[in-house]
Amino acid sequence: MSDVILKLEDVSYRYADGTNALNGCSLKIRRAARSAVLGANGAGKTTMFLHLNGILRPTSGQVLCEETPLDYSRSGLRTLRSRVGMVFQNPDSQLFSASVREDVSFGPMNLGLAERIVRTRVEEALQAVGMTAVADKPVHNLSYGQKKRVCIAGVLAMQPEIIVLDEPMAGLDAAMQEELTVILQKLHAAGMTIVIATHDLDFAYAWADETIVMEAGRLLAHGNPVEILRKEDVRQTLGAAPLVAEITSSLSLLGIDLRDKGYLPRSKQELLTVLSKQARQGG
Ligand SMILES: Nc1ncnc2c1ncn2[C@@H]1O[C@H](COP(=O)(O)OP(=O)(O)OP(=O)(O)O)[C@@H](O)[C@H]1O
Ligand SMILES: [Mg+2]
Repeated sequence: MSDVILKLEDVSYRYADGTNALNGCSLKIRRAARSAVLGANGAGKTTMFLHLNGILRPTSGQVLCEETPLDYSRSGLRTLRSRVGMVFQNPDSQLFSASVREDVSFGPMNLGLAERIVRTRVEEALQAVGMTAVADKPVHNLSYGQKKRVCIAGVLAMQPEIIVLDEPMAGLDAAMQEELTVILQKLHAAGMTIVIATHDLDFAYAWADETIVMEAGRLLAHGNPVEILRKEDVRQTLGAAPLVAEITSSLSLLGIDLRDKGYLPRSKQELLTVLSKQARQGG
């Protein structure tokens, strides 16, 4: 079994108005990994995502799932979309049913599952995102963050192998961001492949196994966040570096090495732990 589950090979995409959103984009999504896709506004992250489940089809180049080019027939797309679950950047483009429960049921019902199974999956998914209490509410009356949670529930209820989330944290309150991080952690532990587009460099640094940096519709860099996010061209395109990375490199200039058992801290919590350990040991 190949380590790569999804792959773009030299993909270009031109929108109807002539915008070249992807320009020879080649990249790989590793099976069971947590991949963070980064890039400035307009770099092509959303356009790339829409290729992963066949919503958009390359103008040239190809997309492969497990080494096989995508099948864009009706049944091919149906199979693909049951494997690749997508949470859109804008919740309004994903929600269309009357009530929250109906909306979350739509995907699993379309998979042809028994009603009892659909019901269990829907309740579990609503519970996972803390939306059980509003399950009967009309979708259009929800707040933005609540709509986002419902979208995430809708994808969780499909139980896909790969979950692709386009800026899932944007618009969520701090508590829900923390809860979503826990949900993602559980999904990762269960072997799911997770791909997230984000502008939150601190989150990407702490969370991702792999960072994929896009610029002007193509791949700029791909690899371990600790290596990638300190590269000069990456910092330039992203306009910043993660705070914890900035602190560790500033301290290393002062001769303070924060490596703990060979690893650099990647989250605020890890940083504080290492600092207090070093303070206890007298520097
Ligand atoms: N439907 C569309 N028609 C024409 N151009 C589009 C369309 N959607 C996106 N674009 C253009 O394609 C390019 C890539 O946009 P895309 O939404 O993929 O970027 P992004 O990296 O997701 O940006 P953001 O961080 O703002 O979400 C941009 O120049 C954008 O203006
Ligand atoms: Mg986008």
